Amino acid sequence: MQYKRILVTAALPYANGHLHLGHLAGAYLPADIYVRFQRLKRRDIVFFCGSDEHGVPITITAEKEKVTPKAVVDRYHEANKHAFDRFGMSFDNYSRTSLALHHETAKEFFLDFYNKGILKEKTEKQLFCEHDGMFLADRYVEGTCPNCKDPGARGDQCEHCGNWLNQEDLIEPKCKICGNIPVVRETKHWYFPLGDFQQELEHYVDQRNERDGWKENVLQYCRSWFKEGLQDRAVTRDLTWGVPVPLEGYPKKVLYVWFDAVLGYISSAKEWALQKGDPDAWKPYWQKDDTKYVAFIGKDNIVFHCIVFPAMLMAKGGYLLPENVPANEFLNFEGQKFSKSRGWGIDLKDFLDEFPNADSLRYAIAVNLPEYHDSDFYLKDFQARNNNELASILGNFVNRTMTFVKNNFNNAVPPQGTLDDIDQAQLEYLRKAPAEIGECFERYRFRDGLLSVMNVARAANKYFNDTAPWKTLKENPDRCRTTINICMQTVCSLAILIEPILPNTAQKIRTMLRLTSQHTTAWDEAGLPALSDGHELGESELLFNRIEDKQIERLLDRLSDDSRKADVPRSMDAAPLKQTIDIEDFMKVDLRTAKVIECEKVKKSKKLLKVSIDLGFEKRTVVAGIAEQYQPEDLLGKTVIIVANLKPARLMGVESNGMVLAAIGENGNPVLLMPASDVSPGSTVR
Ligand code: MF3
Ligand code: ZN
Repeated sequence: MQYKRILVTAALPYANGHLHLGHLAGAYLPADIYVRFQRLKRRDIVFFCGSDEHGVPITITAEKEKVTPKAVVDRYHEANKHAFDRFGMSFDNYSRTSLALHHETAKEFFLDFYNKGILKEKTEKQLFCEHDGMFLADRYVEGTCPNCKDPGARGDQCEHCGNWLNQEDLIEPKCKICGNIPVVRETKHWYFPLGDFQQELEHYVDQRNERDGWKENVLQYCRSWFKEGLQDRAVTRDLTWGVPVPLEGYPKKVLYVWFDAVLGYISSAKEWALQKGDPDAWKPYWQKDDTKYVAFIGKDNIVFHCIVFPAMLMAKGGYLLPENVPANEFLNFEGQKFSKSRGWGIDLKDFLDEFPNADSLRYAIAVNLPEYHDSDFYLKDFQARNNNELASILGNFVNRTMTFVKNNFNNAVPPQGTLDDIDQAQLEYLRKAPAEIGECFERYRFRDGLLSVMNVARAANKYFNDTAPWKTLKENPDRCRTTINICMQTVCSLAILIEPILPNTAQKIRTMLRLTSQHTTAWDEAGLPALSDGHELGESELLFNRIEDKQIERLLDRLSDDSRKADVPRSMDAAPLKQTIDIEDFMKVDLRTAKVIECEKVKKSKKLLKVSIDLGFEKRTVVAGIAEQYQPEDLLGKTVIIVANLKPARLMGVESNGMVLAAIGENGNPVLLMPASDVSPGSTVR
């Protein structure tokens, strides 16, 4: 299909903390590369984002910091907006969901659904904390995930398995504020009937996948939700911070944060239109069929963007649905998940204070984008990429060429003259580069695209070396002029090709080349010679400073300092102690050592391993939720500890005769318990 315009959105980050590098790798850098590329393609494109300022993440932060929610969002909205700016994000508008304009949009959608009779009004049992006198919406309640058994699941979502939950289904729920066990009370809410849209949604996902090639991880998520069958979902909450429910008589109810947040994309577009004095300018981007809408997000947001938001747009009518939702996986930092409470990770602003050239960071993240799997960011790798690739390949080529022109040709581009085969080949290579790189960007394969861009710089260095202009300068000056002319044309092409990833460097090169508005910045012309013979260059400057070991070491030291000083989890984060029991109670549990003799994954389950064990006096099978942490072969021959007298249970169709013991570590990941030295199977444990 031929599109006339493109609409791009990137997930609205919660304004409850500073952005860190993980956020950039998930949604923002890919989105910005895509948008900058499309602008160079001369497409009509707009790019919207903003702060997500409602919901429990905000009010919990406010309670922790003992300030109002408004103070929290004001502070972090400004901070994040500024940090994005320094990072080179080229949003057309960065809005916020606390604006009246946005409240109006969200209310309009709600009322439209209400008036059409789409919403179901139900009085349901909800968890209520008698200590705090409030209903425990969303993250105010934590418990064990009914799906993956992760103990850190929250009222609305389990981050561990990514499942979207109903709080009634949480196992052993606890109040996040005081740790008490909530009671059940009735309350009225409005539900959106997702199930009614299931057929249409399945068709939507299939069709868009066919048209635009959706990512496998995204499709898998969607299909597993469809398989389970979509349920009614409450779109209102008993809270006071948020968009008030626009119906008479419900002063203490607001719209569910995800209901309003996704509509923030539309409000951001409206605000942009107002600011440019053309209030209707947002409409073609959201409402005309010949617009392509691409929504960039991180993987934890898939259900809301591939199912909930499209269903809402279908219900409303007249709006475009995302043509693609390219969700990235997660970026780890120095081998571990980013974690605020553990002081692990680094905020974007702190990083840029230390290394102000945002392009170095953009590059190191782009090379490591978690496009198909979780990936890692290491400071040593960042240093190596900067020094060995940006400085030594790209920077070096530009620098040696410019210096050569300055020293030998009066800082003016020498004439091209007659071309040899090697020159033709280099020009031909350049001519093909934009289409090849562009194809990658067009298909959301940013790592591949970056690789191809760097290959242009690599090929250019090789051409420089092979043609040895420092030799031909004396021996064959015509040859030398040709070589340097072609090198200069390559520098000029690079200024366009690197722009999506390295916008500041691209600008620096353009200044160094003294390019004017006469010189094209069009992607499609980036492979053609653009500098005329005799074109005068400007002052050349170093593109990338080398990063020294001691800078990296200083940062690593600070990091381990921070993580040492990080709050030991507050008592309400740790599971509260259970009631005291008698020794007899404990002795009822028959714990035994057991040797693993066979082990395999349970079919169609991501989490479960089927483990055959030998207890010495008998063999049996247990099912353990550890498949994400352990491979079957990791367990073979190992001795584990099991609860041997647990009533058998069926898990995903497999009978489990006992339970393997594990400590629940960081983020709910199980760590198996094993005896410290050899002991025969069947030994009792106490
Ligand atoms: N604030 C959410 C998060 O950080 C993302 C919201 S995306 C939106 O996970 F579309 F809902 F705005
Ligand atoms: Zn409580």
